[in-house]
Amino acid sequence: MSEQIKDINSTQMLADERQGEVYTDATQKPSNGKSYYIESYGCAMNFSDSEIVASILQQSGFGSTSSMFDADLILINTCSIREKAEDTVRQRLREFDKVKEEKPGTLVGVLGCMAERLKTKLLEEEKLVDLVVGPDAYRDLPKLIQTAEDGDKGINVFLSREETYADISPVRLDSNGVTAFISIMRGCDNMCSFCVVPFTRGRERSRDPFSIVAEASDLFDRGYREVTLLGQNVDSFNWTSPDGEHAVTFAELLCMVADVHPDLRVRFSTSHPKDITDDVLYAIRDYENICNYIHLPVQSGNSRVLELMNRTYTRAWYKEKVRRIYEVIPDCAISSDMIAGFCSETEEEHQDTLTMMDFAKYSMSYMFYYSERPGTVAERKYEDDVPLKIKKRRLSEIITKQHELSRAHNEKDLGKTFKVLIEGDSKKSSDDFRGRNSQNKMIIFPKKSDYKPGDYVQVRVNEITSATLLGNIVEA
Ligand code: SAH
Ligand code: SF4
Ligand code: F3S
Repeated sequence: MSEQIKDINSTQMLADERQGEVYTDATQKPSNGKSYYIESYGCAMNFSDSEIVASILQQSGFGSTSSMFDADLILINTCSIREKAEDTVRQRLREFDKVKEEKPGTLVGVLGCMAERLKTKLLEEEKLVDLVVGPDAYRDLPKLIQTAEDGDKGINVFLSREETYADISPVRLDSNGVTAFISIMRGCDNMCSFCVVPFTRGRERSRDPFSIVAEASDLFDRGYREVTLLGQNVDSFNWTSPDGEHAVTFAELLCMVADVHPDLRVRFSTSHPKDITDDVLYAIRDYENICNYIHLPVQSGNSRVLELMNRTYTRAWYKEKVRRIYEVIPDCAISSDMIAGFCSETEEEHQDTLTMMDFAKYSMSYMFYYSERPGTVAERKYEDDVPLKIKKRRLSEIITKQHELSRAHNEKDLGKTFKVLIEGDSKKSSDDFRGRNSQNKMIIFPKKSDYKPGDYVQVRVNEITSATLLGNIVEA
């Protein structure tokens, strides 16, 4: 079990397998004779940001490479959410140091949340780092690279109130050509007491909805069939036109994107329970192409702990939200994030998280034990007093519970037929396709001629594991 805890503790919003993923676009050839290499960690927002960075670098003449040994510029897009995420990045920097020793001219740049959190401290602690660039400063990269090439350190960690990179068309790196992320807002104003994101990503701001729709249309025209709208708290999306005359809510944005084409699936992440409205639920119910899946992190099932976390809802309020979701969208899948062993959490309060999981019947969850982060309200006001051993034991109970729930959730799918969007070959065999249903469950099924990635097929589920469904294509 301990191995599993280690694995799951390093997961956030994105599958573990994607942590540290190297992004490349083989078609991106340098016009300035130089190539960059980029590795990404953390949440989907960071992976999406790496595509913005790629676009900015491409425009200034860089090519991309999947080998750090061939690169003139090594970039690492970092995460600060838990101590372990930062430790992983520090370890990678040791590897980059070795490359620099062999090829002294190579530049190393730290991007993203760790750059923002540590600022100049990072340059003091990591002597071989040349660039430190926060999430709102990527437009400045070409200039900062020039500074570093001239022998100075390049740093920009300015957090903006306006930057949304709305006009930048992201380069789709290592894409399956079927599914893509679209960033719709940046920052977070929520100040959950455990969380470092408001400090690393700055104030919340919504992107121009017309640029979002244009990006979705362009993706559709290029063969993409699914977009995931991204933000730390998408339900508080709220855009007002510069003249103050038009306003667009998240529910309206969902409909605008769904209207691009009935064959374009729309997903979104993450929802804060306090902000998701009935209008969002009605949009999901009324549009076949808005997926019946909501990631609704609860964090804890106990009202006292939720208050300490500053989540602004109680156990009863969250339960009512879940009840309402299942009432409006009966076949909706709900998933969650849970934190075990937050400051002063008692054994009974931990039990409340387990019973909440039973109540909400999550299809899957990302599960963590609490990791104190410098500068957060929790770090300043509460004692991190639950011993690590107990945190880990509680986490393992949460994981066991989720395994049971995932299996039960999957068992209900046995014998059912789902509309599945083919994403590509199964990881294990090129004889099989993989794709997801509306509820975001991965289904593996034998290939049939005439079908290709990007096609929709009807798949009947005939076998399950706790993580995936197995099935066969059935002709309509
Ligand atoms: N904006 C999203 C999630 C952001 S971070 C939301 O509000 O739901 C992803 C998850 O990491 C969080 O949901 C939380 O469960 C976890 N997390 C954040 N800070 C943490 C910390 N200090 N220790 C452990 N887990 C944490
Ligand atoms: Fe962090 Fe809370 Fe914002 Fe999510 S909503 S990013 S958990 S502060
Ligand atoms: Fe990590 Fe920053 Fe995302 S801290 S979870 S990469 S917003």
